Formats: sequence, structure tokens, C-alpha cells
Amino acid sequence: MDRLLGRTALVTGAARGLGAQIVRRFAEEGAHVIVNDINLTAAQETAKKYNGDAFSCDVSNSSEVDRMFLEIASKGLEIDILVNNAGISGLEGDNQAQERVRKSLKVAEASAKGEIPEIDPPILEVTDSAWSKMLAVHLDGTFFCSRAFVRNFRKSNSLSEIGRAIINMGSIMGTSGGSGSAAYCAAKAGILGLTRSLARELAPFKVRVNAIAPGYILTDMTSPMAEMFPLLVAQTPQGRLGDPDDIAWAAVYLGSDEAKFVTGQTLSPNGGWHMSQ
Ligand SMILES: NC(=O)c1ccc[n+]([C@@H]2O[C@H](COP(=O)([O-])OP(=O)(O)OC[C@H]3O[C@@H](n4cnc5c(N)ncnc54)[C@H](O)[C@@H]3O)[C@@H](O)[C@H]2O)c1
Repeated sequence: MDRLLGRTALVTGAARGLGAQIVRRFAEEGAHVIVNDINLTAAQETAKKYNGDAFSCDVSNSSEVDRMFLEIASKGLEIDILVNNAGISGLEGDNQAQERVRKSLKVAEASAKGEIPEIDPPILEVTDSAWSKMLAVHLDGTFFCSRAFVRNFRKSNSLSEIGRAIINMGSIMGTSGGSGSAAYCAAKAGILGLTRSLARELAPFKVRVNAIAPGYILTDMTSPMAEMFPLLVAQTPQGRLGDPDDIAWAAVYLGSDEAKFVTGQTLSPNGGWHMSQ
């Protein structure tokens, strides 16, 4: 209780999934929550549950991001914690999603058996626009929001007594890689590099910057991957997939004073699937 009392937190892509659970735990810990999502109605529904505010923008659009931060500031809200969480799997709205997941599984299984897969390498199906969109939402979005956050608190010239924090959503995919998800892995690896760079740059301005690299967590994003779950569970020493709270509590910790000496780090709740980030 009250681990985030007095703080204002903006969580991007927070209408559902990991972002919504982070919003819930942040609010319970005393933070005022600001919910961003590309889907305004869904963001408003989530914000309403926790007496928060909702603002819509596409984080991959620089001018929309800047406009949203100005709107937030014009309402007298000053952000202490920014969680760059918005993301896509690339399978959204893809009527071949199941087939793509199956192909990734085939490559992983053939690799484990030392066989040559009977399919083409999945990278051959990655279009220029799919590649660009993945990097835009994850990596550009994290950069645009972080820059706007810094710009706004510099403008108000306030040095927060309690210190500010940026938390970036990476993934175990950012370090382990994964067949069939080259763009996603590249975007998440970029986020980890950006995290470390900003941690150095912003430390003198009393902003801590860390990343969370979740393992496989049950959300709408991972539901199209259900055929992979048995393999993933078998690969996980704890013998289960994660739930959104496994990530939300990591975010509470990184946003709170308990982590006041923690910056430039990647915290990876993943049940032991991957043991080094
Ligand atoms: N679920 C997992 O297993 C897992 C694992 C590792 C990392 N992650 C990362 O965690 C984050 C959240 O994942 P999730 O599982 O909750 O996904 P989700 O699909 O359930 O939720 C993502 C939310 O982001 C919003 N969004 C998408 N594009 C946006 C944009 N351009 N601008 C603003 N909002 C946008 C969506 O509308 C949605 O509400 C993502 O960055 C994802 O890559 C998830």
C-alpha cells in the first residue's frame, strides 16, 4: 500500500493486458494514473475504474505523442512515472496468424532435432511495411514518449523531490531472439539499448530508466500463440506461463523508492525461461 503515493503515472497501451494491470496496481499503491491507448474508448473504460485520466494517441506518431503530452500538461498533470508499454505482436488482424505461429513452431522443433525445416525461413515473409510498423510502435514509440516526457518536465523546470522514472517494456525476445519474430526481437533489443543510454543521460536529472523484459504472459497478445504454450511451459523451469501481475508488480517496484539505486537495468520476470538479460 502507498508505495507510489503522490506520484502521477502515464502508462501507454494500457487499455488492456499488461498495461491495464500496471495501471491497477499503480492506482492501488496510491498513484494517480493516466491511461494512454490508441483506442480511446477502451482507455477511458480502464481509466474510469481507477479514477484516472485517459488520453489517446498512436505512440508511433511523433506529432500525436507531442500533442498528447501538451494536453496532459495543460490539465495541470505532471508525470513522475512513464511506462512505455504500448506494443503489437504483428499478428493483429492477420488471417494467417495461426499459420505463422505454426511455422515458427516447426522451425524451433526442427532446430531441436537437428533437422532442416521443410519450410522457407520465416524472414522471407516479412514485408517492408510489417518491419517498419513493428519498429515504429515499439522503438519509435518509446523514444517519442520518453523525449516528450523529458521535454515537458524541463519546460516546467521542476526537479522532482522524489525522482522520476521511465520503465520501458522489453521482452525476453530482445535478448534471446525467436524464430518467426525478427522484427519484434529487433525492436525489443533496441528498447534495451535505449534504456541503458537514457539511464546514463538522465541520471543527473534524477530520472531512473529501467526495462522490464517479460517472459510469456497470458494476454490478448499471446492468445493466438496457444499452440506454442505446451512447448513454452515445458521450457519454463517454473512450469507455467506468466500472468499480468507478474509484470505489474515488477513495474510497481521499479517505479517506487524501493528501486532508488536501480537504473539502466532489465528486470525479467519469466519463470526461468531465460536466465540472463
Ligand atoms: N504478453 C506477453 O507475453 C509479453 C511478453 C513480453 C513483452 N510484452 C510486451 O508488453 C507490452 C504489452 O503487451 P500485452 O500482452 O499487454 O499486449 P496487448 O495486445 O494485450 O495490449 C497492448 C495494448 O497496446 C495498445 N496499442 C497498440 N498499438 C498502439 C499504439 N501505436 N499506440 C498506443 N497504444 C497502442 C493496444 O490497443 C492494446 O490496448 C507490449 O509492449 C508487448 O510487446 C508482452
